Amino acid sequence: MSGVVLCREDEIGEGEARGFLIGAGAVRRDVILVRRGGVLRAYINACPHQGTPLETFADKFLNSDGSLLICSTHGARFRVETGRCVSGPCVGKSLTMIAVAIADGGLIVI
Ligand code: FES
Repeated sequence: MSGVVLCREDEIGEGEARGFLIGAGAVRRDVILVRRGGVLRAYINACPHQGTPLETFADKFLNSDGSLLICSTHGARFRVETGRCVSGPCVGKSLTMIAVAIADGGLIVI
């Protein structure tokens, strides 16, 4: 999956998150990109409880202050900075973080 362009850097503002589908079939990946404290992070969009994507509605991943990613299936809450579950049925487990970089031209690449 390395070298995949998700979007331009200026498309993810502070306190925002977006979902991306990459590839197709067996190599399809569902990715969350989130920015908090100026830092961009990327996670595989699969809850460690039952493996479902976190969101019900497009790009609706965060709580009101942008500190937690929320799984809409059973309500697990994950710290944006670490992906660790702090509330819900999978406390102590974590989302899978993936490396993200800003390439020349301001493109976000995983
Ligand atoms: S599938 Fe996410 S909390 Fe159950």
